[in-house]
Amino acid sequence: MAPSKFAGFLLLLSISGAVRVSGTSFFDQNYRIKWGYDHAARFDNGQEVQLSMDASSGSGFESKKSYGFGFFDMEIKLPGTNSAGVVTTFYLISLEGDRHDEMDFEFLGNREGKPITLQTNVYADGVGDREQRILLWFDPTADFHSYKILWNDHQIVFYVDDIPIRVFKNNTRIGVPYPARPMQIEASLWNGDDWATDGSRTKIDWRYAPFRARYRGFDISGCESWGHDARGCDSPAYWWNSPEHWALDEAQERRLEDVRKSYMNYDYCADRSRHPVPPPECL
Ligand SMILES: *[C@@H]1O[C@H](CO)[C@@H](O)[C@H](O)[C@H]1NC(C)=O
Repeated sequence: MAPSKFAGFLLLLSISGAVRVSGTSFFDQNYRIKWGYDHAARFDNGQEVQLSMDASSGSGFESKKSYGFGFFDMEIKLPGTNSAGVVTTFYLISLEGDRHDEMDFEFLGNREGKPITLQTNVYADGVGDREQRILLWFDPTADFHSYKILWNDHQIVFYVDDIPIRVFKNNTRIGVPYPARPMQIEASLWNGDDWATDGSRTKIDWRYAPFRARYRGFDISGCESWGHDARGCDSPAYWWNSPEHWALDEAQERRLEDVRKSYMNYDYCADRSRHPVPPPECL
């Protein structure tokens, strides 16, 4: 059990006297359905949620609260069959103000037998266009895998099953905006066939609908925060802000390099047609 969860557990004990079974987390405690209500279903007493999409609608959910910094974790099992054009997401987004911050996991479905692409992106101060894409080293439709975003004052790290696949550093020093606004956690299953697969040439095959994505792991390790800035959330009392989370260690660096070498098939940093001069955070 992580220290903060343990502290929360003790606190809960002392306030309510109730005992929470560790390792369980119920959707309705921390999340609510945001859209496509009749396309979302709870299983296992709400410890698992299924979003489905057919020609009439997809579905999405959101955290009830917003957070400044944390270590955000979701287990996802992607739609199985012939999911070209189907986009499954898990992301954080700031909803206050117009120049928003965002960090995304977006799974781009594919035709049967072809690999699913995982796209990540980071928006800061309203500016995105920072896509990276990797192919996964396992079949993400066969079982649940964990997808995580670490976000603190120093870095944003995207993880797949504890393997870092992307780092976005705090480069405000050299003029690159860094996400700092409180964010909500969101997830969705939606129709992305105008962009997601083969540059939109492959459309959704509705004969395979409904498409279904499953989510579980609804605990949230984050600093609750509202409004335009995450004041107080940089406190070293939160474990995700501690120095060991300021940068990857050597072993993690090596794993990240391996992923980039073996599985990355698009990096905005290397796209000279979009960025004739590489953005400063890429250098
Ligand atoms: C980023 O780093 C700078 C120092 O380089 C620091 O002042 C700032 O608080 C950090 N966090 C954000 C969200 O910009």
